[in-house]
Amino acid sequence: MTSSEIERPSELKADPPALIASLQLLPSPTPNLEIKHTKLFINNEWHHSASGKTLSTYNPSTGEKICDVQEADKADVDKAVQAARQAFCPGSVWRRMDASERGRLIDRLADLVERDRPQLAVSVQTLESLDGGKPFLQAYYVDLQGVIKTLRYFAGWTDKIHGKTIPVDGDYFTFTRHEPIGVCGQIIPWNFPLLMFAWKIVPALCCGNTVVIKPAEQTPLTALYMGSLIKEAGFPPGVVNILPGFGVTAGAAIASHMDIDKVAFTGSTEVGKLIQEAAGKSNLKRVTLELGGKSPNIIFADADLDYAVEQAHQGVFFNQGQCCTAGSRIYVEEPIYEEFVQKSTERAQRRTVGNPFDPATEQGPQIDKLQCDKVLELVLSGIAEGAKLECGGKSLGKKGFFIEPTVFSNVTDDMQIAKEEIFGPVQLIIKFKTMEEVVKRANNSQFGLVAAVFTKDIDKALTVSSAMQAGTVWINCYNALNVQSPFGGFKMSGNGREMGEYGLKEYTEIKTVTVKIQQKNS
Ligand code: NAI
Ligand code: MG
Repeated sequence: MTSSEIERPSELKADPPALIASLQLLPSPTPNLEIKHTKLFINNEWHHSASGKTLSTYNPSTGEKICDVQEADKADVDKAVQAARQAFCPGSVWRRMDASERGRLIDRLADLVERDRPQLAVSVQTLESLDGGKPFLQAYYVDLQGVIKTLRYFAGWTDKIHGKTIPVDGDYFTFTRHEPIGVCGQIIPWNFPLLMFAWKIVPALCCGNTVVIKPAEQTPLTALYMGSLIKEAGFPPGVVNILPGFGVTAGAAIASHMDIDKVAFTGSTEVGKLIQEAAGKSNLKRVTLELGGKSPNIIFADADLDYAVEQAHQGVFFNQGQCCTAGSRIYVEEPIYEEFVQKSTERAQRRTVGNPFDPATEQGPQIDKLQCDKVLELVLSGIAEGAKLECGGKSLGKKGFFIEPTVFSNVTDDMQIAKEEIFGPVQLIIKFKTMEEVVKRANNSQFGLVAAVFTKDIDKALTVSSAMQAGTVWINCYNALNVQSPFGGFKMSGNGREMGEYGLKEYTEIKTVTVKIQQKNS
């Protein structure tokens, strides 16, 4: 999801005519779609919830209900874990499958996602825009592209995961095996429903695990659609199980389950702590966490100003500001501060907000009323604490959860808006004078997910990048995430790394095998 890809990825210079034609068929924010999959996906079959309960999913552009889906609870988690355990049993089809064949299945799933990508009327990214409020072209170019790249990348790793032989002391032959962990319980958020689905199932499957995954209650539809493709691709029953449900019920049942071997979570730091605690109190399942951020973006006076303004804009406003990587603390060196504020404000005022299905739209609605209210409250706290509101700050329209692109200047580090994750379209521009000072201030946060620096001076760029307490540092770019490189947080932004070769480590156990060699006289 690089910012350039957000505009247009290189391989798709022009929008495919079919795509644009289909978009014109969907001028309304409430396209009339047939939603095919609303049940729990367990053992490659569609199930009603054990309790008979359903949950409703809403269109954030209008606030209206799209449909009800079956709501999983503890009993359904138990059923899905049983299916996943069965699929993981020694001797099962999945365990006996050649690693290269696992790769072929993952590749086939990528083919199916690609096949369905442009077919708007029934397609997965239309659902993504409908359920999550994402601008359609972003869902098409960034999210779907990311899903396909994740599948292709890990499809190639399945038969390249291997251990070492180790020259131990004594008459022994020792080698290591990198084995799958077992049943993985995956809990994902609503901001990138499909991409997080891919990030959580694909590395796990690549290493030979089985999965029980819970999409966020706000965005269950695309995960269920993927269930149908997983079945069509030919994955054996029970390898992937998909359970829409709420956090405190289905999510908590996953985190504390005695027969789940690993839990991977993306979401709030608050819930991340609960998950680690539940893992500790139950069976000490392995835990990886990808949590919040309050990421600094440092702009030095020698940077290409217009480029830095645009990158900083995309870095915070992308995906309605609902990104764990959002560069919301923008530190700008004093000599260019006023000009940077002025240009950033003009850019934010030009940002087009509205119907996600309009190709011109850059920003859709926030995910729900709760998130919208939280963002607007933080904006009010910024005004009350003396930050200067340059533009925006209010909700937009009569329907749905839209917020004006908002820019604050004269922000100081002690303000609530400078400390808490806002998760909305709110940019904070803060002044700094020296490199030593800005490094200290940038690191003064409980979070440590990403950081960025803009400068033409390579020494300055590398000095700052070494000093940053963050899992990823971008130099002269923002949101340049790639499937090949690891992603994760320092400090309270999480535990472990996803993606790239490093990501595989989180889905394997290392087994040491030692063989006694009886010395024979020849
Ligand atoms: P959340 O952390 O409550 O939800 C994320 C996922 O965790 C959802 O699937 C939810 O059902 C599940 N969950 C909630 N409570 C749980 C529990 N007790 N046990 C197990 N699973 C549980 O995030 P929420 O409430 O949607 O958003 C609150 C804030 O969290 C946002 O304003 C934002 O600051 C942050 N957030 C960060 C994300 C990221 O990408 N790092 C994604 C979503 C939210
Ligand atoms: Mg929550």
